[in-house]
Formats: sequence, C-alpha cells, structure tokens
Amino acid sequence: MTIDVQSILKTGAAATDAALERLLPAATIEPHSIHRAMRHSTFAGGKRLRPILCMEAARCVAGTLPEGAAALGAAIEMVHTYSLIHDDLPALDNDDLRRGQPTCHVVFGEAMAILAGDALQTLAFQTVAQLPAPAATVVEILREFSFAIGTGVGGALPPGMIGGQVMDIEGEGHKPTADLVERIHRAKTGALITTSIVCGGLLGLGHCLANNSTAKLACTSEDAIARLRTFGEKAGLAFQIVDDVLDMTQSSEELGKTAGKDTATDKATWPAVFGIEQSKHDAAELIADAFAALEPFGDAATPLKSLAQYLVERTH
Ligand code: IPE
Ligand code: IPE
Ligand code: MG
Ligand code: MG
Ligand code: MG
Repeated sequence: MTIDVQSILKTGAAATDAALERLLPAATIEPHSIHRAMRHSTFAGGKRLRPILCMEAARCVAGTLPEGAAALGAAIEMVHTYSLIHDDLPALDNDDLRRGQPTCHVVFGEAMAILAGDALQTLAFQTVAQLPAPAATVVEILREFSFAIGTGVGGALPPGMIGGQVMDIEGEGHKPTADLVERIHRAKTGALITTSIVCGGLLGLGHCLANNSTAKLACTSEDAIARLRTFGEKAGLAFQIVDDVLDMTQSSEELGKTAGKDTATDKATWPAVFGIEQSKHDAAELIADAFAALEPFGDAATPLKSLAQYLVERTH
C-alpha cells in the first residue's frame, strides 16, 4: 500500500487548525490580552505532528476516523504549544523566535506568556473532558494524558514532559552521559508523542466498544495499546534526536526557531554524546524498531509508519 505522507500532513493539519479555531476563545473575548497571546502561539505555524499522529492512531484502531479525534488532537496540540511557550521563557531556554514568529513573552510580556501556557493546558483538559466518547474512555484518556505531562508518580511511572524539562534545565552545563540524555529525551518529548498515539488508540477503541465492533480489531485491545505505546516511545525518542541534529545542521530561517542554541547553552543532546552521524543512524534504527511493533495491524498501520519515517527525514 503506497501512501502520500504530504497529503496526510496537509489534511491532518487542516483538521487540527479547524478544531483549534473552534475551541480557542476568540481574541475579541475578554480578557483580550490572554486570548490574543494563546492564539499568537497556537496559530504561528506548527507542523501539528502530535494531533496528526493521534488521529492516525485512532483511525488505525477503529478503521475510520472516530468522532472527537480532531478535538483530542487539538487538546494535545494545546499542551504542546503551552510547553513551547514555557520552554522559550527567559527562565528556561530564553528564545525569542518560535514557529517563525517572535515568542509569546517577546510580544505579550512574561506574565502573559506564563498565563497563556497555563490557560492552554487548562483548556486542553476541558476539551478532553467533553469528548464525544464513552465515559470510561474519557477517564482513561485523562489518566493517560495527564501522566504523560507530569513529573512521574511516586517513582511508579516514568517522568513525563515537565519532569523531562526539569532534567533538561538541570543538565545544562554538565557533560551529559548517554543514560541521562536518553532519560531527558524520553520524558521531555517522547512522553507527549507517545501519549498522542496512545490516546488516539484509546479513542479508537472507545469507538469500537460503542459500536459493538471490537471483533474487527487486529489484536486484543490491551495488545493494541501496548503496541502503539512501543511505537510511540521509539518514534518519540527518534523525534528528539532529530530535533537535536537539526539544531546543529539547519538555519534559523529553515527551523523557524533559533539554530545552534543547544551547543551555545551546553545542553544535554544526543549529538553532544554520540556525534551527528551516530545520531542520524540511531534515529533511523529506532524508526525501524517502531515499525516492527505495528506488524499485526497490517496495512491499517501504513499511515502511522509513513509519519514515523517523516519524523526522521524532516528538515525543520
Ligand atoms: C518542537 O516540536 C519542540 C520539541 C519537542 C522538540 P515540533 O518540531 O513538533 O514543533 P512545531 O509544533 O512544529 O512548532
Ligand atoms: C523542548 O525541547 C521540549 C518541550 C518543549 C517540552 P527543546 O528545547 O529542544 O525544543 P526546541 O528546540 O526549543 O523547540
Ligand atoms: Mg528546552
Ligand atoms: Mg528550547
Ligand atoms: Mg531543540
């Protein structure tokens, strides 16, 4: 089965943008400043990769795009955008360019950027709570999604995005070890990418349950989710390795964010430990491993595989 990844990216980004437009408060709604700030960063031109992975995971499981998939993807994009607004703050990476635009704090000030990030995260959970899906599915998605964003629960679960950002900031200026950089990458970026795919799968399963069509599933529901999780973990780690490589090899114009920043600030990156060539090799190998996890889904997994391939071949 051949598939045009560019058309998946285009259609998925359009569906995500439409859902975000519907879900974010208009800039004319008070208080104006925060709604303008939220919209500035959300509509600055992101690739929408997490929502697209989420929608394609839902389609892979359900055989059709389930109701609510675009809204769920939009909720994930809200959290991603919040993480970028906070990542760019002077107290974190101190960046003034994002998605080809001046960063949120540069335009609206630090206070409004902090609050816009907080508000996007809150709106994301409001959106998930209102998904048109069975109540048990909504609760499962809330659990999965919130754990992926957090700091790890009592050591029983690995750290999520915020835990990863903590390790990233604390790792600045120290010589990174392979073990540390892998833990940072799995948490700060891998966790949100993994949960995008897992939450999409959970919504797809909820659709099958509601329509009594679980018999059509390629494997048991637990196995389907476990396989999507493995795929997400590998693709998510590969994604951040490539982000690190692009920081060293591309221009700020191409990236829409400041290039060369990781070396300048002595960040714990994959190329800092392994070099650029080995990093590219590791990312490609992770993607090959990710493909293996989706074997039982057959042709239904082709869009997800094409997207994973794109994650490592992209130039921005
Ligand atoms: C950038 O993510 C931040 C990281 C987690 C490395 P993306 O490369 O997906 O950024 P956008 O959403 O397209 O701007
Ligand atoms: C960002 O990692 C991860 C999150 C925002 C959670 P980076 O700091 O490498 O992302 P960029 O390079 O600024 O997009
Ligand atoms: Mg950072
Ligand atoms: Mg950064
Ligand atoms: Mg980076």
